[in-house]
Amino acid sequence: MSSTVRFDPAGPLRGDYTPPADKSISHRAALFGAMADEPVPVVNYLDSEDTRSTLDAVMTLGAAVEEERQDCLLLRGIGLHAPLEATGGLLNVGNAGTLMRLLPGWLAGQPGGVWTLDGDASIRQRPVDRIAEPLRRMGASVEARDGRFAPFTVRGAELTGIEYELPVPSAQVKSCVLIAGMLAGGSTTVSEGSRSRDHTERMLRRARVPFERDGLRTTVAQVDELELDRVVVPGDPSSAAFIVAAAILVSGSRVVVKDVGLNWTRTGLFRIAERMGAVIVGDLEEPGTEADEEPVGELDVASGPLEGTVVEAHEVPLAIDELTLVALLGAYADGETVVRGAEELRLKESDRIAGVVEGLRGLGSDIEATPDGFIVQGDGSPLQGGTIDAKGDHRMAMLGAVAGLASVEGVEVVGMDAAAVSYPGFEHDLRALL
Ligand code: S3P
Repeated sequence: MSSTVRFDPAGPLRGDYTPPADKSISHRAALFGAMADEPVPVVNYLDSEDTRSTLDAVMTLGAAVEEERQDCLLLRGIGLHAPLEATGGLLNVGNAGTLMRLLPGWLAGQPGGVWTLDGDASIRQRPVDRIAEPLRRMGASVEARDGRFAPFTVRGAELTGIEYELPVPSAQVKSCVLIAGMLAGGSTTVSEGSRSRDHTERMLRRARVPFERDGLRTTVAQVDELELDRVVVPGDPSSAAFIVAAAILVSGSRVVVKDVGLNWTRTGLFRIAERMGAVIVGDLEEPGTEADEEPVGELDVASGPLEGTVVEAHEVPLAIDELTLVALLGAYADGETVVRGAEELRLKESDRIAGVVEGLRGLGSDIEATPDGFIVQGDGSPLQGGTIDAKGDHRMAMLGAVAGLASVEGVEVVGMDAAAVSYPGFEHDLRALL
């Protein structure tokens, strides 16, 4: 059921704020926990619709998930090469693109196993040919509806390692091939055109998988088993980004974000916002850092005037889920803000280029779409307000809420319930800071 919620101009936002657990790292913790032989405690696993889909999928495959204590799940895995259950059956990925793209890497390396993956109406419009191609080259069979969409069927096989150049910078595709690489004979190398989030690589290293990085090339070798200790999931910088944007835009705000992940491959938005003039003080990880652990820390954010900026293609993967917020910041900034090289946005939970342009235009912004991004003209004054339709996309719903707080007349968000996909407590957390 779709809910409509009104966000009236309000503020300032003040106080301490702890974001929900990281969605990307939670998905990986559940999958790696399921692939491990020994039980893996996962502290602060995200409780959301998407990450519940991943727990359901690994349980269908034979893993057990126990609540060890409050805030700590125990993943009892089946082992990397163990016979998985539910062969011949259906795995429901719901709305979770990360689950849909990573899990097949594991399934592909199970000779004799057959699984069909399917999900909701939105996931059925998101391409899987990008993972089907490398998995086929490794020896598996993947048959998708119209050659590129769910439902699709994966038939596992004895895999062989490959060298694979990613046609689009995508952490999901990179992760899928690296996971399959752990099951494939020899070694598997993935090259990316520019760096995307590296949570899989950090987890592979911690799981003691033979791992090498040479610039933009990542190589893993076949392993018999994963040895993963406890995983502690940090706060999600992508979820925090909505509160950070609100704090930047609503005058007089000052918010301290606690326990947030500061991995440099995720914090592109914070660097872009700083460049626009936002005051964000914190221990952002240095770009280019190679590490095993996920850095966690604090960000101190204050409102202030912004200037337009240009976001180039190499920055896009580092802020991929936050680029619509760059449009919103741009609408409040003085001058022109341009995002280029972001055509991937058209393939997210919704077409986010069309959605943000239509949505912000409806609120009074001077914004136009380009094939690979958008151009926003701002004069430093606030948006008028109006209605935004989230179109089932959690991040568009949260963007609408932030726009409302910073607007002159308020914003009505149609489909606010979509936020539960990644951030069920969003509205509560936002209002608690007002
Ligand atoms: C994700 C990678 C990104 C991102 C998505 C989560 C991940 O997708 O947009 O929300 O967890 O690896 P792509 O790899 O398709 O860019």
